[in-house]
Amino acid sequence: MTIQRPKGTQDLLPGPIGKWHHLEEIIRSVCREYGYEEIRTPIFEATELFQRGVGETTDIVNKEMYTFPDKADRSLTLRPEGTASVCRAYVEDKLYAQAQPVKLYYVGPMFRYEKPQSGRYRQFHQFGVEVLGADKPVVDAEVISLVWDLYRRLGLRDLEVHINSVGCPTCRAEHRRRLRDFLAPRRGELCRDCQERYERNPLRILDCKNPVCQEVSRGAPTTADTLCEDCREHFGEVQEFLTAAGVTYRPDPRLVRGLDYYRRTAFEIMVEEIGAQSAICGGGRYDGLVEEIGGPPTPAIGFAMGLERVLAALELQQNLQDREHGPFAVVVALGKEAQRQGFSLLSSLRQAGVPSGMDLLGRGLKAQLKQADRQGARLALILGDEELKRQVAILRDLTLGEQAEIAWPDILTTVSAKYKEEEEK
Ligand code: HAM
Repeated sequence: MTIQRPKGTQDLLPGPIGKWHHLEEIIRSVCREYGYEEIRTPIFEATELFQRGVGETTDIVNKEMYTFPDKADRSLTLRPEGTASVCRAYVEDKLYAQAQPVKLYYVGPMFRYEKPQSGRYRQFHQFGVEVLGADKPVVDAEVISLVWDLYRRLGLRDLEVHINSVGCPTCRAEHRRRLRDFLAPRRGELCRDCQERYERNPLRILDCKNPVCQEVSRGAPTTADTLCEDCREHFGEVQEFLTAAGVTYRPDPRLVRGLDYYRRTAFEIMVEEIGAQSAICGGGRYDGLVEEIGGPPTPAIGFAMGLERVLAALELQQNLQDREHGPFAVVVALGKEAQRQGFSLLSSLRQAGVPSGMDLLGRGLKAQLKQADRQGARLALILGDEELKRQVAILRDLTLGEQAEIAWPDILTTVSAKYKEEEEK
């Protein structure tokens, strides 16, 4: 039997990879404009980081982690998300000693042992942003407007930005108390997970997908009902800044996130068209996390978006074509000596920055031209015995079907100029 890739993973093949490059280029340029710098953390971390960071009561930690002992019996976990790792690096690499806030972004694979379905994978890719060392509402608004701006540039439509405040430890204690009081009479009807959540983290019951739990929790007190004065003021200001930045959002008092570390602002962005897995981005404030993993008290906020879902939405909205990565020019050499000269010409073209190719299979003239056409090449430089003798080549424009002789010393400048012209179109 042939070996197959693991369930819930994908091969990103040469054609569609162009879409990924396009998306990643726009991500990087938006980050540069907003003043965010890239951070790359390890793909695996000590398991304890996620247990302490993401939280013991979350599905991610309880059910979805790829955890394994290494040869020295240390427990390691493939990162299920990026925030805990960034906080660990902030502490370990003493980024708190630098000018604050520290504004970081990352792009890379994450791993969750979930039930694979459309838009849900076991290895998926996130673009995430984290701002550490700033607690003002304007920071929350900057982070959300960065996503908004990115989606606008990608041409994504029909987005819904849901925002909420999940409060701070003080007002959350009051919310938890009221929530338990509300749920107590029908506690027995909750699913097994929610029975446990009732004890450890009742807020998560509001997020359960089980229809019975949804019914039981309908009308339950929301965090908005119990926010303390400071949290209420913070949330109000975030909304004012978002309005000032032209972001359309919807306050959603039932929004709770699937990770334990959030405080105050929490948000999610949905595109309904992509089906059940409609959340393309989620984030919020996590002011206690850095301290939780052993660092100084540090306010922080961030988000992450699933790139597979962003691409699926763009594709559905027909905003993304496969991008060609074929050569611009092709050297068509006929005969041994022409191949040697042609290979040298190919190197010069590539060094001059012109994407170029040459036949690697010893095909004849017709087959070489056909292949060039298939690859979408614009120009062919034909070199045979006759051309060698006279130190010329035939320059054929494959789109226009025109051709002319060109002297060797002129090839590089002519082809480079045509390439530049095409790039600027
Ligand atoms: P999250 O909501 O768990 O948040 O994930 C963020 C996004 O990653 C989701 O909205 C979704 O687009 C994508 N995603 C999650 N799981 C999968 C999956 N199995 N397959 C495909 N896409 C998926 C976090 O990860 C937080 N670290 C976000 C954050 C950063 N909060 C503060 N800073």
